[in-house]
Amino acid sequence: MNLTGGSHWHWRAWRSQARWASASQQISDWLLTQKMPRQRLVLVGASAGWMLPVTWLAQFKEVHAWDIDPLAAPLFRWRHGAHLKRQGTALHLHTGDGLALLQETSRAMPDAFFWFDNVLGQLRFTNEGLDSVSQRLQDLQSQMQQVAWGSVHDRMSGPTLPGTTLPPAHMAKSGLAMEAPEGQKWLQQMGAISPWLDHLTENVLPQGTPVQFTAWSFKPGYAHWLEMGWCSAHR
Ligand SMILES: C[S@@+](CC[C@H](N)C(=O)[O-])C[C@H]1O[C@@H](n2cnc3c(N)ncnc32)[C@H](O)[C@@H]1O
Repeated sequence: MNLTGGSHWHWRAWRSQARWASASQQISDWLLTQKMPRQRLVLVGASAGWMLPVTWLAQFKEVHAWDIDPLAAPLFRWRHGAHLKRQGTALHLHTGDGLALLQETSRAMPDAFFWFDNVLGQLRFTNEGLDSVSQRLQDLQSQMQQVAWGSVHDRMSGPTLPGTTLPPAHMAKSGLAMEAPEGQKWLQQMGAISPWLDHLTENVLPQGTPVQFTAWSFKPGYAHWLEMGWCSAHR
């Protein structure tokens, strides 16, 4: 069973577009100003690209997207296909486990930019134990070091105080512990009320990578702390 994708995700994303617009805009603004390589893009956990700016996708010559959800490919094409075609971006959509195929795809496309699109923070919902998920997420850095890669992922999520206006994007460095004063201040600005869920992604990106924090109004009274960052290939 797909706990983080599938028809319930598409339904929620489709009807939440207005609620999610501010977070999507912050992701878009950040992606468009980054200097990652823009030849080939590999997306893991793309779904229909509900929160991805088509203007950024169209800056690549090729986009290769993976999702385990069979609805993802037709819906991605429906949302972004026509614009990408007009801009001359070749679109390759795959249904399958993009994480299991990483070694293969990074060897096949060493010049590509790999983007984990709000998927790594969801691994804690799989049947693996939490320790094993944390380890798997930390191992990603060595697994990916030959290629340029990045990720937008949940750091934490939970209920918010009624009437909270979520804060604008905040620039920080990856590896920030939520217990640190900066982490606590950010959670306070989001109106976080305990308990919040830890998505185990604190150490996904190499320590000190420049990141953006975005507060995402996921549903009424419930927000997610998104973190996004990327790093160059270390060959
Ligand atoms: C929270 S949703 C985000 C989807 C998408 N990035 C968006 O913003 O619309 C997580 C997505 O990751 C996909 N997913 C989960 N595990 C995956 C895996 N191992 N390989 C590829 N996709 C995966 C799910 O099917 C789901 O579509």
